Amino acid sequence: MRENIDTQHFVTQWLESRTGKVPNIVVLTGAGISAESGLQTFRGAGGLWCGHRVEDVATPQAFIRDPVLVHQFYNERRKGLFGDDVASNPAHKALADLQQNWLGEVTIVTQNIDDLHERGGSDDVIHMHGEICKSFCTHCREKVEQKEDSSIEDICSSCGKKGSMRPDIVWFGEMPYDMDIIEMKLAQTDLFISIGTSGNVYPAAGFVFMATNAGAKTLEINLEPSMNAQIFTHGMYGTASTEVPRFTKALIEAVD
Ligand code: OAD
Repeated sequence: MRENIDTQHFVTQWLESRTGKVPNIVVLTGAGISAESGLQTFRGAGGLWCGHRVEDVATPQAFIRDPVLVHQFYNERRKGLFGDDVASNPAHKALADLQQNWLGEVTIVTQNIDDLHERGGSDDVIHMHGEICKSFCTHCREKVEQKEDSSIEDICSSCGKKGSMRPDIVWFGEMPYDMDIIEMKLAQTDLFISIGTSGNVYPAAGFVFMATNAGAKTLEINLEPSMNAQIFTHGMYGTASTEVPRFTKALIEAVD
């Protein structure tokens, strides 16, 4: 089992190694950061995602085969996100606080399709796997906000085509969004923090290698060591709602 870092010691050493430069930070988040907000993670329940096989609901082929099922699936997830018991948690808020109080740049990249970073106060979050509160037209590519249920009857408000709207989700076999920006930020980062992700899905699972190549320290914060744990220079293991605020507080206090 990997040892948890001594937070103060890590922060002091890291900042000392970066003198003469305002350090930049890239944060990658996954389903684990939203688990304590009441949203199910992906790989908790026998490989099924809310009772469905990924191939039946999260691939372009699934949408061609059974668009009604796919719309229904994401409608349920969207409704779940707006349930009374779902809210951002201290980990989302701590990252927003870090963005507002850090002198350098803090880039948040999330694999999550929920809006809990935004509800926690973060701006400019890169949603590399898309957003459940958006749809786009497969005909003219126009993107729209999607707070209500979507269906195969929907008409694109831009080109007027019926049946062309789909959830703005990056499905398996599709290219994640903003990879050029993410790669640029990773190439310039001094610290890469991966939070609540199992390290199963590429390209996100490979970001730690890019940050390492850039000379950055790499920290995993997760409930337990992930598949990639040994690749990170450091680890903090526990719930995101406890560990993330503990770490960001130490960072902010160190530069106050
Ligand atoms: P996973 O479900 O694969 O992994 C969630 C990780 O969070 C696991 O390592 C858990 O140990 C950890 N975890 C659970 N509860 C936690 C807590 N309270 N605090 C901290 N960590 C906790 O989810 P992702 O890695 O996000 O892709 O999955 C990556 C991608 O696979 C998703 O974006 C999705 C999925 O298929 C697409 O839909 C394209």
